[in-house]
Amino acid sequence: MSQEIWTAVDEHFVDQLVLHDEALMAALRSSEEAGLPAINVAPNQGKLLQMLAKLNGAKRILEIGTLGGYSSIWMARALPAGGKMVTLEFEPLHAKVARANIERAGLASVVEVRVGAALDLLPLLFEEHQEPFDLVFIDADKLNNPHYFQWALKLTKSGSLILIDNVVRGGAVMDADSEDPNVLGVRKVLEMIGKESRVTGTAIQTVGSKGYDGLALVLVN
Ligand code: SAH
Ligand code: DHB
Ligand code: MG
Repeated sequence: MSQEIWTAVDEHFVDQLVLHDEALMAALRSSEEAGLPAINVAPNQGKLLQMLAKLNGAKRILEIGTLGGYSSIWMARALPAGGKMVTLEFEPLHAKVARANIERAGLASVVEVRVGAALDLLPLLFEEHQEPFDLVFIDADKLNNPHYFQWALKLTKSGSLILIDNVVRGGAVMDADSEDPNVLGVRKVLEMIGKESRVTGTAIQTVGSKGYDGLALVLVN
């Protein structure tokens, strides 16, 4: 069992479950044309994010790591009228591509793309005293996951869902001696979740078109 079959099965899911439409495909095409890395979530993962947002009745969503806005579009579509998403992106080019993709998807009035290092933007967001977020999707530089998780706790409330992408990274998470700061960030955040009495958390391994990885799901108590 390997990448070839995982990709084939994901393509089968996309076909059978109709996991794409014009705006989502255009977002991937324009991201590729602009030279962005294809590290967006897979279509079936995007739809899972959308369904989790719906199940949680999310009215306010925070995303850390926008890239070309592919996951943003999936999640923003779960928002009810009057809902709002803030998504944080360090690279101005990524943010520019994302804004165009979000606009094409008809979500420009719902999704606000903020440009900068998330660790600079999160304190500013906190100081704005907006309503708490119902869902936070952490999907940026993995070394800062512990910090992002702490900020997510500050910016959410009881019943909010915090999702952390890429917690397996091909199994690299198992290398306790790793010197890769990204691996250390992933290991540390899992440890924090386990020790944090304010949350209920789990993690799931995934395979598919994006390889072997995983998603952590954390419910704020
Ligand atoms: N959520 C996207 C994928 C995000 S890829 C999707 O699934 O479609 C990770 C993104 O995080 C990249 O665009 C990268 O530029 C951004 N990023 C990396 N470090 C960051 C930082 N410190 N602050 C904000 N964004 C960052
Ligand atoms: C990487 C980042 C991601 O968010 C992802 O889903 C896959 C890979 C990366 O930085 O390599
Ligand atoms: Mg990711």
